[in-house]
Amino acid sequence: MNATGAVNDPFALAREAADHIASSTGITGADIALVLGSGWKSGTDQLGEPLADLDLAELPGFSAPAVAGHGGRLLVVRTAAGRTALVFTGRTHYYEGRGVAAVVHGVRTAAALGVGTLLLTNGAGGLNPAWPPGTPVLIADHINLTGATPLTGATFIDMTTTWTPRLRELARGIDPSLDEGVYVQFPGPQYETPAEVRMARVLGGDLVGMSTALEAIAAREAGMEILGISLVTNAAAGITDAALDHAEVLAAGEAASSRLAVLLRDLVGAL
Ligand code: HPA
Repeated sequence: MNATGAVNDPFALAREAADHIASSTGITGADIALVLGSGWKSGTDQLGEPLADLDLAELPGFSAPAVAGHGGRLLVVRTAAGRTALVFTGRTHYYEGRGVAAVVHGVRTAAALGVGTLLLTNGAGGLNPAWPPGTPVLIADHINLTGATPLTGATFIDMTTTWTPRLRELARGIDPSLDEGVYVQFPGPQYETPAEVRMARVLGGDLVGMSTALEAIAAREAGMEILGISLVTNAAAGITDAALDHAEVLAAGEAASSRLAVLLRDLVGAL
């Protein structure tokens, strides 16, 4: 604790949040966690039997989301296969300036509840012109351009199979049309310049966004298997002549919502 009584240790804070979730919902643990990004929030009612619906902002260590359209609830769901899933309908972004521990607090809370499988979703700019807005793309690997990490000290985590091949195969079994790509996390909050997008391409990137990679690092530290899916909400800056607009990013998510809802439902049932 510090002078204001707040917990400084992020793992102790995650434990506190996990205990709060357990005592207010009656669950003793969970198997799966989902983080729903821009465009991914409809159809949560199809994920299974709802057990609880909590306001994230009221849980220890979480705070209200900064961006309209990035809602913040924690749904607890029993899936068709009888597994317990935690569904985060909002996330803290790095650009909010609350620090990296706040960005990965949901992942660490899920880990404290015993979650072993994490599904990370986001809205992203696409570098491949063959991916129109509304295209979901599996994350095969990532590049973290934030210059930050949730790890402290000599925490040498293997990142070789961060994006679990077995889970990607499972997803392709459900939707064989899913392409794969390398997700590049920029710090944001400004969208990229066309030159930054060209740099991302030279580096091997296929998708640009402002989330996900830092969460994946924390999840690997916790030993989780991770599946990631980006929804291409727009062509990345300079890929077409169009300017980028947050409202259009949200609208692309809306337009794709029924496809994404089916994909999520089938994935969660299979995880
Ligand atoms: N860049 C960064 N983040 C994004 C984008 C983008 O083009 N689209 C949706 N989120």
